[in-house]
Amino acid sequence: MSTLPAAPAPEPMSPEKRAQFDAISRMAREAAGLNIVPEKSAMVFSRLGKRLRALGLSSVDDYIALIQGPDAAEERENLISALTTNVTSFFRENHHFEYFAQQQLPGLIERARSGNRVRLWSAACSSGQEPYSLAMVVLEQFPDAHRHDLRILATDIDHQILAAARAATYSSDLVAPLKANGRERFLRPAESGDVMVADEVRALVALRRLNLMGDWPMKGRFDAIFCRNVMIYFDQPTQNRLISRFAKVCADQAVLYLGHSERIDPAANAPFRQVGQTTFAFDPSASPHVSLRHGAHQE
Ligand SMILES: C[S@@+](CC[C@H](N)C(=O)[O-])C[C@H]1O[C@@H](n2cnc3c(N)ncnc32)[C@H](O)[C@@H]1O
Repeated sequence: MSTLPAAPAPEPMSPEKRAQFDAISRMAREAAGLNIVPEKSAMVFSRLGKRLRALGLSSVDDYIALIQGPDAAEERENLISALTTNVTSFFRENHHFEYFAQQQLPGLIERARSGNRVRLWSAACSSGQEPYSLAMVVLEQFPDAHRHDLRILATDIDHQILAAARAATYSSDLVAPLKANGRERFLRPAESGDVMVADEVRALVALRRLNLMGDWPMKGRFDAIFCRNVMIYFDQPTQNRLISRFAKVCADQAVLYLGHSERIDPAANAPFRQVGQTTFAFDPSASPHVSLRHGAHQE
């Protein structure tokens, strides 16, 4: 049986480069929880190179001195933006949208129609395709959602990618999944052949900057949390803390959707029960020892 050749080992870093790498990865961990391993050093230096060119700096040491300074909040954000990966797409991992549409949404619509509050959270929304996909699913079953108290909160740490999410304008190849699955009616033509997500979809989504490692100013609880393909960038203790925080903002019968390679660590003793592929129902009885509920209250 033939086997694939092993990936070449990364070249060892010089002591100087290693010190630079350590300074950058420490900052990324402190600012955004990112766990950047030395094997990723080539990616880090390539993306740093772009920041240096943008700022007209010639040395990485000068850049590190700059971002460690007191007035560098904006550049630290730019660095996090450069180091994070924003890959996403409409209806990515479609089984989550199917589960939501079939298992969760009918009950949520009933609750909204009876005057209750329904909140959905796309917790690392990138350029918006995830929350807009969710809004389209909602509108398909609940065309008058706007007249009820149902909203989608979409957050991300990266202010640049949030600007793209706000623009909600995509090239025609990016919306191909929508054309293929009969959801073209949620699109409008935009300039130069691009398309824009329709106002009725955008109106359900509130976009905000939020660092998952920082404070969460939201007061109410969520019925569904999509936190997909971001936990992979965090180390295990950070992932476990995040899962515990999600539990504290889950409404009864909430569902947490994770990315395809993400799991809930059994050692985290988290109050979630797996109900589908990377799909977890909030279930306090699954973890009787976890203290819940402080820090989140219903609006
Ligand atoms: C690969 S994208 C995932 C997008 C979408 N959830 C999906 O699955 O298609 C990861 C996103 O996580 C965001 N991110 C990284 N660290 C974050 C943090 N500490 N807080 C909030 N968002 C973060 C990045 O800016 C990026 O947009």
